[in-house]
Amino acid sequence: DEDERTDRIEAAKRELGDDLVILGHNYQRREIVEHADFVGDSYQLSVEAANADAEYVVFGGVTFMAESADIITDDDQTVILPSMEASCPMAGMAEALQVDAAWAEITNAAPDAEIIPITYMNSYADLKAFCAEQGGAVCTSSNAHEVFEWAFDRGDKVLFLPDKHLGENTAHRLGMGDDIAEWDPWDPEGKSAEEVADSDIVLWDGYCQVHERFRVDHVERIRDEHPDAKVVVHPECRREVVEAADEAGSTATITRTVEDADPGETWAIGTEIHLTNHLQRWHPEVNVLPLCGEACMDCNAMRQIDPNYLTWVLEELVAGRERNVIEVAPREAELANVAMERMLEI
Ligand code: 13P
Ligand code: SF4
Repeated sequence: DEDERTDRIEAAKRELGDDLVILGHNYQRREIVEHADFVGDSYQLSVEAANADAEYVVFGGVTFMAESADIITDDDQTVILPSMEASCPMAGMAEALQVDAAWAEITNAAPDAEIIPITYMNSYADLKAFCAEQGGAVCTSSNAHEVFEWAFDRGDKVLFLPDKHLGENTAHRLGMGDDIAEWDPWDPEGKSAEEVADSDIVLWDGYCQVHERFRVDHVERIRDEHPDAKVVVHPECRREVVEAADEAGSTATITRTVEDADPGETWAIGTEIHLTNHLQRWHPEVNVLPLCGEACMDCNAMRQIDPNYLTWVLEELVAGRERNVIEVAPREAELANVAMERMLEI
């Protein structure tokens, strides 16, 4: 039962002491975040990983986050993901080989332009490495606009991967909402190439299946049912949803919005349901509502980190066995680190 499991996790943590740090993304289940030393958004967790001294970094999150932690930690530190099944579908929507092929077409479409590729943190290490090689960088939802500005100081166009919604929302934030092309790799008529030539921001056709499900109807329904409610959403939501909301930002921004709310205020949250539930628990003085109550706002990838698996990897470490180690190949890690360091410097 949960009490027994809690005792076992805490006993393993005591045994491992300073050799262990547990990082938990805001979308993790309650039974994971309760045991984490740091809980935060993708950016905060990458900073925590970079600063961690512990020999073992156990990551409550998805594969691309654990890969990033491996890249950013020292060689003698080991990153462990409690379930190898925790893969973000969006990260899989831009495979480095496929992007490499598209890059040749995109650069041909605008031969005189300096194109800077920027990849969202939600991508695999080989794509981050590709971006580094082409003079680009990584960004997260909390710094996308700053990384875009950095890119436009260096080049004429940005290719943003994989999340078209974050790309579009960032373009609007920079006043470049009319300057967008969507890259369609299966476009037989070559229209994408024409659009690339005419636009400064080129978006890869990827999306988050959780955030894409939020609709303007959900915002309207909340405003009808709770006229005093304000709405905060994640920028992986569609453009029209972000426009209809009062605020938009990373999971850390959403968390801060509720933290800073006055007692009795009502906030509807448009993001993965576990964070909404945490915010309800952490801030009982604020009226926290899910923007959409449907169960589909649950991220399957994040859910793979079962507390039983956390117990297992910790007890195995106590027994001297390293399970589910995430290790990025050295050359790829070196390049991907360049792209991530660029973000951290920006
Ligand atoms: P942030 O925590 O950076 O806002 O990212 C959200 C997300 O979807 C991670 O998968
Ligand atoms: Fe990927 Fe979306 Fe899940 Fe984040 S919430 S891990 S982007 S599928």
